[in-house]
Amino acid sequence: MLKIAVLASGSGSNFQAIIDAIDVQKIPASIAVVISDKADAYVLERAKQKSIPAQVFPYQDFPDRQKFTLAILQSLQTYQVELICLAGFMRIFTPELPTAFTGRIMNIHPALLPAFGGKGMYGHHVHEAVINSGAKFSGATVHFVTPETDVGPIIQQEIVKIEDDDTPETLAQKVHLVEHKIYPAAVKLYAEERLVIKGMRVMIKK
Ligand code: GRF
Repeated sequence: MLKIAVLASGSGSNFQAIIDAIDVQKIPASIAVVISDKADAYVLERAKQKSIPAQVFPYQDFPDRQKFTLAILQSLQTYQVELICLAGFMRIFTPELPTAFTGRIMNIHPALLPAFGGKGMYGHHVHEAVINSGAKFSGATVHFVTPETDVGPIIQQEIVKIEDDDTPETLAQKVHLVEHKIYPAAVKLYAEERLVIKGMRVMIKK
C-alpha cells in the first residue's frame, strides 16, 4: 500500500478529505505521517483524532531554508514515504526535496493554473486576484510539484462559476468544496498507478 505524507500549515480540511477517502477504502494507501511547520495548526489535531503520527518543524528553529528542507526530507525518508501531498503548506523548499521526490509530490492550488499562481498567490490573495480580474470562472488544481512554484504538470482541475455577488470569501468556500473532491481523486489515481507524466501533460490510464 502506498505510503503518503501530508504537509499542511493550517486547518487541514484537504488532509481530512484524503483520509476520509482512504477510510472508506476508495484509496489503496495509508497516511504515514502528517508534517506541519506550525505547532498550533488544526491539521495536527485532525491527525491525532485519526492516530496518525504528526511532526512539527517550526521554520524559525532552523538556521536557513536548506536545513529546514533537509530535516523534513530526512523525516520523509524515515517514514518511507512514497508520495507527498502538500495541502496548504506555507513554506517553500530548497530543490533537494523536489529533486528527491520528482513525480512524487502533489500540491493543491485554489485557482485554475497556470493562471493565478506563483509568488504571492496563496490564500485570500488568490481569490481577490481572481475576483478583481473579472473572470467568470475559477476552480482548483491538483498538480505535480517541480522546483518552481505552481508550474508542475496538472493532474486534476474542476471549475467553479463566479456569480456577481461572490466575494473572495464566498469564492474561497466554493473552491474548497471542489478541492475536497479533486485531491482525493488525484491521490486515488496515483495510488492505482494510473498517472503518466508526458512533459507538461498528465495522462490517465484507463
Ligand atoms: C487550500 O485552499 C489549498 O488550495 C491551498 O491551501 C488551502 C489549504 O486548506 N494550497 P486546508 O488547510 O486543507 O483547509
